[in-house]
Amino acid sequence: MKLTYEGHACFILESGGHSIIIDPFLKDNPLARIKPEDVKVDAVLVTHGHFDHVGDAVEIAKNNNAPVIAPFELVNYCTEKGATGHPMHIGGAHEFPFGRVKLTIAFHGSTADAGAVGSPCGFLVTMDGKTVYHAGDTALFSDMSLIGPVDCALLPIGDNFTMGVEDAVKAVGLIKPRIAVPMHYNTFDVIKQDPEEFRRGLEGSTTEVRILAPGESTEV
Ligand code: NI
Ligand code: MN
Repeated sequence: MKLTYEGHACFILESGGHSIIIDPFLKDNPLARIKPEDVKVDAVLVTHGHFDHVGDAVEIAKNNNAPVIAPFELVNYCTEKGATGHPMHIGGAHEFPFGRVKLTIAFHGSTADAGAVGSPCGFLVTMDGKTVYHAGDTALFSDMSLIGPVDCALLPIGDNFTMGVEDAVKAVGLIKPRIAVPMHYNTFDVIKQDPEEFRRGLEGSTTEVRILAPGESTEV
């Protein structure tokens, strides 16, 4: 599976001729290297309603005739804006043509310009036997130990709105992924972090930390 970081919490996953995008915050993201119109995907996954995650989801879904996959209330918000959608909810999994998606809990909020749009989530995405866990925006929680097995965990380290470095290091200890990629940092001043601190925190661990620059890809 090819995993590409597009800055903040946005990733593109590609495998077996299929591709999906998660949390496509591009147009208003100072770190993003691509535009919504450049994105060619089979589905658009969104963890919660905050602007830095919903971002350009509706536009990308419409351009690609691809469904928005998200918690029920957030899908309703996107379909009211003209996208198609596949509603899911926490704990549920579904097989799509591109792979399997399961929604996990995330401890955070989920509002959009319409108000509350349900619960936030994380995603477990399995494509061709490889599983990526996108934690969404969340605090550390001990039930992370129930998530998995995970090949690659995408974890927020920005602090203030989500886990910081110290808790993200603990999260890796609970999830025990093969690879961990930090996200949700340096987009705004309030979430400035040194990702090398995350790497140092995991020295001696069996998990390999990969720090990706926006636009950079890695093989999972
Ligand atoms: Ni958020
Ligand atoms: Mn966020």
